[in-house]
Amino acid sequence: MPVAIITGASRGLGLELARSLAADGWNLVIDARDPAALRVAAEQLAPSGSVRAIPGDVADAAHRGDLVAAAIELGGIDLLVNNASLLGPSPQPRLAEYPLDVLAHVYAVNTLAPVALVQLALPQLRDRAGTIVNVTSDAAVEQYEGWGGYGSSKAALEQVGNVLAAEEPIVHVYTFDPGDMRTQMHQDAFPGEDISDRPEPATVVPALRRLLHDRPASGRYRASDFSAVSP
Ligand SMILES: NC(=O)c1ccc[n+]([C@@H]2O[C@H](COP(=O)([O-])OP(=O)(O)OC[C@H]3O[C@@H](n4cnc5c(N)ncnc54)[C@H](OP(=O)(O)O)[C@@H]3O)[C@@H](O)[C@H]2O)c1
Repeated sequence: MPVAIITGASRGLGLELARSLAADGWNLVIDARDPAALRVAAEQLAPSGSVRAIPGDVADAAHRGDLVAAAIELGGIDLLVNNASLLGPSPQPRLAEYPLDVLAHVYAVNTLAPVALVQLALPQLRDRAGTIVNVTSDAAVEQYEGWGGYGSSKAALEQVGNVLAAEEPIVHVYTFDPGDMRTQMHQDAFPGEDISDRPEPATVVPALRRLLHDRPASGRYRASDFSAVSP
């Protein structure tokens, strides 16, 4: 069965994608920083498939090496989903006041860690004509006030995907914008607001599964580009 690395899979979109792939028998390597939450997530997934849950921070090079090594032990890497992400401070500061050390950390998690994981996984992905999914946001392409840190980190991630697609024609490289979802990150982005009208992350998974199934040309896709029908 195919093997996927999904970062940030203890909750939200990462967990829902992991649930869907595990149900179809995929072997998974997942991570998150909070070991207890990751363990609970892995226990939910384990009955469906083979799951290696490795707690750690994607910004940590040794942890990234552990993720890739675990996937190779499971048989290789068919899919890398760079989903783990940091919003930054909540509420988000305007760029004029954004602390640079915090901005550097947001970039380290949202931009540099995905590049580093791609570098480690590429030999496997090339061999298996595999797939990279970098999860982005409309904040990468819109000029929302207060979203300059997170948004610019995702904009850089998108351009990483564009260039990777040109440089690695055998690998499918997708930039995937899920749209608003009712998750902890979204609540952090809108502190104190009622976000109960936002869709649950599970509602986005059929679009992502459609993308993985249909394997269109590398590029940027929004969840709303796909019909809600599961492949
Ligand atoms: N929610 C939205 O409305 C929305 C909209 C557009 C795009 N997105 C994107 O969708 C993706 C998923 O977001 P979500 O809303 O599902 O977020 P979420 O519910 O807050 O989940 C984030 C996951 O990533 C993990 N994580 C965070 N930082 C990490 C790190 N440094 N290393 C390893 N794991 C880390 C978290 O666990 P720990 O905290 O334990 O590490 C958690 O498992 C992100 O790329 C986000 O930018 C979300």
